[in-house]
Amino acid sequence: MSFDFSPNNASPVLKTDLMSAWIVENWIPQQDRDDYITVITAEICVNGVMLAKFNDEIKLADTFVFKGYEPHENPEFLPIFDHNYQGELVTQTGTYLYHFEEDGGEKFDVLVMSAYYTDDHEVAVIASVPKAYMKAWGAFTQTCQRLAYPESKVIVIGGNTNSFEPKVDWDEIILPTDLKEEILKDVEAFFERGVGIYKRLNLNPFRKLLFAGVPGTGKSMLCNALAKRIIEKDYQAIYISSADSDGSSFWKIQRALYVAADSKKPTLIILEELDAYLSNDEKALILNVLDGSESFENDAGTLLISTTNYPEAIDERVMKRPGRLDRIFIIPETRTVGDAELMLKKYVGEMWQDDHIAVAEKLVGYPGAFIREVAIYALTQLVNEEEEALTLDRLDSSFNRLRNQIEERDEFVLRRTMGYKL
Ligand SMILES: Nc1ncnc2c1ncn2[C@@H]1O[C@H](COP(=O)(O)OP(=O)(O)OP(=O)(O)O)[C@@H](O)[C@H]1O
Ligand SMILES: [Mg+2]
Repeated sequence: MSFDFSPNNASPVLKTDLMSAWIVENWIPQQDRDDYITVITAEICVNGVMLAKFNDEIKLADTFVFKGYEPHENPEFLPIFDHNYQGELVTQTGTYLYHFEEDGGEKFDVLVMSAYYTDDHEVAVIASVPKAYMKAWGAFTQTCQRLAYPESKVIVIGGNTNSFEPKVDWDEIILPTDLKEEILKDVEAFFERGVGIYKRLNLNPFRKLLFAGVPGTGKSMLCNALAKRIIEKDYQAIYISSADSDGSSFWKIQRALYVAADSKKPTLIILEELDAYLSNDEKALILNVLDGSESFENDAGTLLISTTNYPEAIDERVMKRPGRLDRIFIIPETRTVGDAELMLKKYVGEMWQDDHIAVAEKLVGYPGAFIREVAIYALTQLVNEEEEALTLDRLDSSFNRLRNQIEERDEFVLRRTMGYKL
């Protein structure tokens, strides 16, 4: 099979075309059976760390076992290894032979080929599988997914870890009850009923919510608690992390959508600080993703929850154009004395005294993170001074100290940015 690479040939040559042509020319003719077909396969199936987790105890479709793999000679598609921070080899491109064995002793091989098709590390993976064993292959790819992403964990895209276990309970979050209920109802209704409606309308079942609020009001906490609930339902949660040298890059969003579509599980994607992703030259790409026009489609539904401190930094084309963000929830600072008291009690713990309510009254209007700091500072002071009880005075001076600190900081920033002395 040959390809026309001349500049006036307008049709693109895809990496998958090249690889499948190689298979047809070099692999299939050498096989004893004639039912080999080429299928598209998930990238996770060429992840070395995940493949090492297989053992003979893991039965695929009840009767098959994966017996390991080896590189297959192919000078045209050389292996390239990606590694993680522990130095383990994760995604491995090139050509490999995967060995399988059935309980009865029958064996078969699958040829797996993969290659980078963009310089920013998108990988295409295909496999040449005997048609008679497609059921086993399907079970294998599903197991790869399960081994790579243990079900109790949130998958992390970007950042420095692969996954984490969400630990925040819904009840730990102190926010107006009706707001919490609305959020939960929105999320659950989308997965339980919404997906079906989108599909009946022939739309990509992709819903997008935004949590907006000043720093420290509990947006990240909400995301963590929602992820925990989602995972308990055997759905999937993905967290996009900007904590690496690639920062807020579009490829991370793209990868998360791909993992969601690939899993075919109802999926929650958490994207913190949406404004940062929209502030660089990849904005147009993100707008397309939010439109749903450029997204990988997950039949089981994908819910994207993003957060921001700066809703004003989010383009009007996102905020005001229907369809790009389906719903915006404002996550407020503490609104009532009751909530401020609950919050202060939570962080003061067993040191709580009834007269502390006087400080709770002053804390209305402050974010949860501030209230936590007031409590923690007071408690550490108490330890330093070797006191037994947390007096109202100590708590109150912790509040004053933190408030002054913040006011000074605001003044400093104002002076710097406005260029005058207050
Ligand atoms: N509503 C809340 N209920 C209980 N605790 C809260 C709440 N808001 C904040 N906290 C406390 O403050 C910490 C920081 O909150 P969190 O990280 O969720 O804020 P955030 O809104 O994501 O802030 P940022 O916008 O800066 O990312 C939490 O881990 C928690 O201890
Ligand atoms: Mg946050």
